[in-house]
Order: sequence, then structure tokens, then C-alpha cells
Amino acid sequence: MKRDATQKVCLITGGSNRLGREIAISLAGRGYSIFFTYFSSEDQAKDTLEEIQGMSPSSSMAYCNVSDVSSILESFKAFKSKYDRLDLVIPNASNFYQTPLPKVTESDWDSLVNTNLKGTFFTMQEATKIMLKQQFISRIITITDVSAELVWRRFAPYTVSKLGIQHITKIFAKEFAPHILVNSIAPGTILHNPDRDQTYEKEILAKIPLNRFGSPNDIIRAIMFLIDSEYITGEIINIDGGRLLY
Ligand SMILES: NC(=O)c1ccc[n+]([C@@H]2O[C@H](COP(=O)([O-])OP(=O)(O)OC[C@H]3O[C@@H](n4cnc5c(N)ncnc54)[C@H](OP(=O)(O)O)[C@@H]3O)[C@@H](O)[C@H]2O)c1
Repeated sequence: MKRDATQKVCLITGGSNRLGREIAISLAGRGYSIFFTYFSSEDQAKDTLEEIQGMSPSSSMAYCNVSDVSSILESFKAFKSKYDRLDLVIPNASNFYQTPLPKVTESDWDSLVNTNLKGTFFTMQEATKIMLKQQFISRIITITDVSAELVWRRFAPYTVSKLGIQHITKIFAKEFAPHILVNSIAPGTILHNPDRDQTYEKEILAKIPLNRFGSPNDIIRAIMFLIDSEYITGEIINIDGGRLLY
């Protein structure tokens, strides 16, 4: 599908389902051409692409395992074969599961840290190579987690990976200013996982001053704010209903 050269382009990793899908659909509605990656959810990715193409026909998708740099490079090759500009990158792909501290294995560590931190880093590195050649300001919005600022004993590799992403967000912001604005959104609890622990959920809800879990729209509003902002870089925006006040 031929694209209007002035149409903005967004690349988002992990866009097949859940939050990534909601973000991709909203940005398509906002006029962006979307290139998203999927990993294990090919069928859901196809459904998401169909929905996105209904609003933004030049959108497309590709497989990517973000824990493998060669796979990231392949997906950027696919991206570059289709698009001649890159306005916005959202490294959203993530791995999340409980890892009680005494039981963390090397494989847990590699799986969580490589998907989240290494995957985000090399996605950002590839994106900046395209963005720096452009004559306009582009943006990267990393997706982290308020737990990066909390001390959760059951999630150490995950929270370490998200804290690492917050740090590289600041490093990239400094390195690539003023050409690329780099910020992070740190959600609180937005969507629950299939292996949800309802007792644990009640404990979390009791620590949210705004008395509800967040919704994808709470995150999308912040993304829309950042893509319209021209004087914010290196910031972490916590969207957590006040969770960090506890
Ligand atoms: N949900 C929340 O309440 C919440 C709270 C705080 C922070 N966040 C952050 O917000 C973002 C979206 O949340 P979510 O709950 O929608 O995330 P998610 O479902 O846990 O994961 C998002 C996507 O990451 C992809 N993925 C996993 N491993 C991958 C790999 N090795 N290579 C490439 N892609 C991989 C999956 O794609 P496939 O399905 O195609 O395999 C999945 O759809 C994440 O960064 C998450 O950490 C979410």
C-alpha cells in the first residue's frame, strides 16, 4: 500500500495484544502509519493488523524476538524496506513473571533482562540510526513500570530490567538531544495477567490512593501528551493512581 510521504510513522514492539495493541490502534487513529512487531501471538497480530489497517492502510507488522539482536536487526530491515521515515518508537515488548528471590535461575534472569532491557536498548540504538538522519524531531517513548522505584522481593530481574530502561532513557535523551526526544512512561497496574493472584491484587489496590487500577486509556493519554510536547526529554512519567505515594 503506497503511503503519503508526509504521514508520520510509528514503530512499536510487542503490538499484537494487550497494551501494545491498544497503543498501536490509538496511534493509527491519530493518523500514524504503524509498524508493529509480534513474537508468539501471530494470530492475534493478524487480527490487530486488520483493525489497524482499517484506519491506516499502510501499516504492517513483522516477527521479532527482541531478546535476540539479530532478530531486531531483521525487523528493522523489514521496516526500512517499507518506510522512509520514523517519527516515533515505542519499545513496549516485555516479559513479566514472578521470580521469588531464592529461586531466581540464570534462565529467568536472561529471559527477563534480555527481553526487557537488552531488547529495548538495541531497538532504541537501531531507531536512532534512522532518526538522526532526519531533518525533523523524532521521539522515543520507553515503557517501564512504577515497580522500578519500589522494592518488590518477588520480581527482582523484572524490576531491575525496568529500572535499567529508565536509566537508558535518560542516557539516550542526553546523547541524542536536540534531535530525538526520549521519555519513559511508567505504568502502575493497568492490565492483569492470566496467572493473577487476587489476594495480591487486593493488597495492591489498597495502596492506590485513586482507588482503582489504571486503564489503557490512562497510558494512551500520556503518550498523546508526549508526542505533542516539544520541550520534555529524559523524563519518567509515572501513571499509577498515586501508588508511589505509599
Ligand atoms: N499491564 C500492566 O498493567 C503493566 C504495568 C506496568 C508496566 N507495564 C508495561 O507496559 C508494557 C505493555 O504491558 P502488557 O501487559 O501489555 O505487556 P505483556 O503482555 O507482558 O507483553 C507485551 C508483549 O511483549 C511481547 N514479547 C514478549 N517477549 C518477547 C520477545 N522475546 N520478543 C518480542 N516480543 C516479546 C509479547 O508479544 P507476543 O504476544 O506476540 O508474544 C507481548 O504481547 C510492557 O512493557 C509492560 O512491562 C504493563
